[in-house]
Amino acid sequence: MSALKIAALIALAAYVEARFGQEQIPVSAVSALGDAGFGDPGVAATIAGSIPGSLLAAASPCDKLTIADQIITELGTDQQVIDAAIGLVSAETNFNPFAVNVPFVCADATLPASEQLRGIVPLVDPAVVGSDAENANSATSVTTPFDAAGLSQAEVMIAQGFSNFTAVAANGDDVVLDGQDGAAAGDDAAAGDDAAAGDDAAADDGTEAPAETTVVQQPGRCGGGNNNTPSSTALVATGAAETAPAATSAVGENTGNGTVADGNDQNDNNNDDAADDGATGGDAAVGTGNLDFGLCQPTMARVAGLNGRAATEFTFIPQDPLCAQGQQEALNPNIITNRICDQLVNVCEASDEAIAACDDAQAQIEALGTRDQSTADTWNTLLGFDGVDSTQETI
Ligand SMILES: *[C@@H]1O[C@H](CO)[C@@H](O)[C@H](O)[C@H]1NC(C)=O
Ligand SMILES: *[C@@H]1O[C@H](CO)[C@@H](O)[C@H](O)[C@H]1NC(C)=O
Repeated sequence: MSALKIAALIALAAYVEARFGQEQIPVSAVSALGDAGFGDPGVAATIAGSIPGSLLAAASPCDKLTIADQIITELGTDQQVIDAAIGLVSAETNFNPFAVNVPFVCADATLPASEQLRGIVPLVDPAVVGSDAENANSATSVTTPFDAAGLSQAEVMIAQGFSNFTAVAANGDDVVLDGQDGAAAGDDAAAGDDAAAGDDAAADDGTEAPAETTVVQQPGRCGGGNNNTPSSTALVATGAAETAPAATSAVGENTGNGTVADGNDQNDNNNDDAADDGATGGDAAVGTGNLDFGLCQPTMARVAGLNGRAATEFTFIPQDPLCAQGQQEALNPNIITNRICDQLVNVCEASDEAIAACDDAQAQIEALGTRDQSTADTWNTLLGFDGVDSTQETI
């Protein structure tokens, strides 16, 4: 690893740690509620303990809003309690700067449910374009909440002029809301009437799905290993559902010819080329992002002529035999990225951070909408494996 890379990693680690410190703010305020005698013994401490996880990149941004409601329902409506809950609603949520450059925000209009917490918008990382306006809005909203009737926190933010984030629906899907600069949201502009949809929700009786949203990702897990059965087909960015590679299924599962043991080839610790740099972290495939992918290297290849296809037909495939187990090559890279992320969870024993980075990278590849060699290279780079030869079927 070059000195430059090491310096970059140290800088990045310091940065991540600095941002991580944001979490201490709502945690200590909620802990203090227990000391002040609010709630049954231990309840405030338990709630406080659940806060850091809700602010991590891997969590849904809706989680912290649920916890904020819980603070009020379990600890009461004293102003000190409400202030602590507001601190959580307005807290900055972490995201993995290796993988994405904008924060995640909850798009569930039913959250938070507590009237005292509605119309409050979160702080965002100062590195995000537009953060000045959003952070000013957040400070304002803490004392003077914005109109939030029928609107999710994400929709309130957009209404107040900040849309540089990824909205996440109640079910965990990333969604593009009207007014966001999503790759595929352009045409939605016609749906400018959705302000009316907001009123609808205010008047309605509990219909919770935010209107006019577009699903861009379903981070489906435990895909079950079915060949070419993508759990995410509604790809707005590409506009087309994957046509499963036709008729090759007769060949059966392509588990790759390597043995599982071959999956550990990347651990050879030779520092002599760029590709090896990605996996010099001892037993685990870590990449330059210093993420622990466990038994797997999460890289993707794009190769012609796989599995009896024409010599000119390129498809995507996981490079690691463990990731590729039970997975056929696919024309749609999103099938493969989805599979790799599933395998990190189910087979590879990857760390939560690595899984979160994979999910983030998956969303980015979907948003890119490309299907060429750069798609595979971008994926590999996002996960810290820059320089891996994506034209090779296996590593
Ligand atoms: C959103 O913020 C990111 C990170 O700062 C930046 O790269 C991107 O250009 C911004 N997007 C918009 C639409 O402003
Ligand atoms: C496995 O090996 C056979 C025989 O060498 C070859 O035809 C086939 O394409 C290989 N499949 C994979 C996935 O490498």
